[in-house]
Amino acid sequence: MKILSAEFVTSAAAGGRADGIPADRLAHIAFAGRSNVGKSTLLNALARRKIARTSAAPGKTRLANIYRLNVEGGPGGPGTWGVYFVDLPGYGYARGGGDSAAELAAVAKAYFESGGEGANRATLLLIDSRHPGLQTDVDAARWLDASGSGRQVIATKIDKLSRSERVRNLKELERIFGCAPLPVSAAGGEGLDELWRLIARVARDQRP
Ligand code: GTP
Ligand code: MG
Repeated sequence: MKILSAEFVTSAAAGGRADGIPADRLAHIAFAGRSNVGKSTLLNALARRKIARTSAAPGKTRLANIYRLNVEGGPGGPGTWGVYFVDLPGYGYARGGGDSAAELAAVAKAYFESGGEGANRATLLLIDSRHPGLQTDVDAARWLDASGSGRQVIATKIDKLSRSERVRNLKELERIFGCAPLPVSAAGGEGLDELWRLIARVARDQRP
């Protein structure tokens, strides 16, 4: 698989108008999750270049930033295809905890209600594999379920866990979120091929 290009398209502000959000038929893969969970880092690891800004300090990404990737080959066979990656602002950063579902709703609303009619969409709900079951993540999953956006739980920073913690936390995530999480490490590369397979399934939809 070759990534021919990966470039920034536009930003959608919280509560702002959804101007400029692409409404063609390319699939949208949204990256949602708490601030500092590793959304921008994972997006860069998948793109194999630094397009999204990352930071050790949480709350870096305050806009929904949309990137377009053009890919040659990969899962699904030969051919050139495109996909949008949407780096959503992180939630759970507000002091005192706040209501993360409302926070996610506020920042993601412009995006989720925007164009792209008929385009396939998937939301990757990123959860720090060290902290399964935080109420903020449970609330966010509920909000996504209510919004009708399919979600896949991605367990990030898996490189930080010992073997036993890994088994325990992945099991816990599956119990809480009702589906097997995909463990990834943007640092070590674990899970990236499998995540690309998932993305290709959505973006290279074979339906007529
Ligand atoms: P916001 O934009 O604030 O919502 O954060 P974000 O979810 O985009 O997080 P970001 O990608 O900026 O990463 C936050 C921190 O986690 C950075 O210091 C990254 O280097 C670190 N990080 C991200 N992914 C990994 C990983 O797979 N392994 C390890 N060890 N660290 C990671
Ligand atoms: Mg970010």
